[in-house]
Amino acid sequence: MEHTLSIIKPDAFAKKHVGEILSRFESNGLTIVAAKVKHLTKDEAEEFYAVHKDRAFFNDLVSFMISGPVMVQVLAGEDAIKKNREVMGDTDPQKAASGTIRADFAENIDANAVHGSDGPETAKTEIDYFFNPDEIISI
Ligand code: CMP
Repeated sequence: MEHTLSIIKPDAFAKKHVGEILSRFESNGLTIVAAKVKHLTKDEAEEFYAVHKDRAFFNDLVSFMISGPVMVQVLAGEDAIKKNREVMGDTDPQKAASGTIRADFAENIDANAVHGSDGPETAKTEIDYFFNPDEIISI
């Protein structure tokens, strides 16, 4: 059993795609073991995405992530990190396979509907950033 962090981003939240996106996770064998709705502050978005701070897109990314509420979840399942990345599709929705969340709900590489951890260490850091252990159920 593996855990991964997922964020339903401001674009998908504003378009009321939260329910459909959660349904994609569940129908692909992932279980939502923690969830919260948040409106990130600039400091939170900058800290969460600190690994990208030297990239040209960093300021646009932070501005976008604080433009409206998000839903943050911990997803659990066998190979949850890889499974979630498959269900999300490519970071760039133009390159995302059909039937993936980003192909179906995302507009462009900035407003790309969802974030998912990219490896075990990132997943741990990202989950710890948003959740206390007692907010995550055991399954
Ligand atoms: P995410 O998985 O949340 O991780 C960082 C985000 O930066 C990414 O999704 C994209 O929304 C955004 N981004 C914008 N431009 C790029 C780029 N050229 N490469 C990667 N990520 C980008």
